[in-house]
Amino acid sequence: MSLSEAEFSYVRDLVYRQAAIVLEKEKNYLVEARLSPLVRRHGFNSLSELVAQMRSQPNNGLSWHVVEAMTTNETSFFRDVHPFELLKKNVLPELIQRRAALRQINFWCAAASSGQEIYTILMLLRENFPQLQTWKINFIASDISKEMLERCREGCYSQLEVNRGLPAPLLINYFQKIGTQWQIKDELRRMVDFRQFNLAQAWPALPPMDVIFMRNVLIYFDMETKKGILSRVKRILKPDGYFFLGGAETTLNIDESFKRVQIDKTAYYQTGPV
Ligand SMILES: C[S@@+](CC[C@H](N)C(=O)[O-])C[C@H]1O[C@@H](n2cnc3c(N)ncnc32)[C@H](O)[C@@H]1O
Repeated sequence: MSLSEAEFSYVRDLVYRQAAIVLEKEKNYLVEARLSPLVRRHGFNSLSELVAQMRSQPNNGLSWHVVEAMTTNETSFFRDVHPFELLKKNVLPELIQRRAALRQINFWCAAASSGQEIYTILMLLRENFPQLQTWKINFIASDISKEMLERCREGCYSQLEVNRGLPAPLLINYFQKIGTQWQIKDELRRMVDFRQFNLAQAWPALPPMDVIFMRNVLIYFDMETKKGILSRVKRILKPDGYFFLGGAETTLNIDESFKRVQIDKTAYYQTGPV
């Protein structure tokens, strides 16, 4: 199955308009690979037929399926390990001291994908900071993809997914086996407020944040979109709050008001004096 230049341009413009994701011309192969399953699922005979249907009825929901199919949802429990070590050894002990009077911490996992990242944070807190059980801890997890947020809410993972990064004792303590799937316990799922929105457009009201994980999503955007997102992050991140990006991402050369704090093999960013 292949796309003509005009069809590729139509999909590329749609995905940019709806999700700010930049698809370079050489990503034609990716578009074809991601959309081929949709062709079969929706009963079309070719990619051209699918694009023609989107063009003739742009508001019938098919376009949104295409946008969702073009998001990359790669994630895993304890992805990259070091940010979570930093959270455990430095960030949380510091925050617990600083917020001792308030007894409240707000976490936001932007670009949550299928939920492994937010549930990693929840388990890490449960395992290492039992004193926080009496604090008010708020967890928000957001993503543009409705399908991914549904997966987050269900908290169900295959054997392959739990094999990727989840230590066996945590699997035993926090999951129950349902058929061939592992579902995270209800008490943890209920702690997360799941929200669907586009980081590249105006954000809904969010509380001031102590910790923001926005990992492995800025890489898909152009400079203008990254600048817009970082300026919004600055508004909601508390001056002594902690901002985490993916290993291949940085605020450098995008917004110089963030200070990078490197500890061991990883880093976080802050907007206030460090
Ligand atoms: C590669 S995953 C990152 C998951 C997780 N943060 C991690 O690092 O393991 C990127 C996620 O960003 C989401 N995403 C892409 N564009 C977005 C946008 N404009 N607004 C919000 N989320 C977006 C995708 O749906 C996808 O789930």
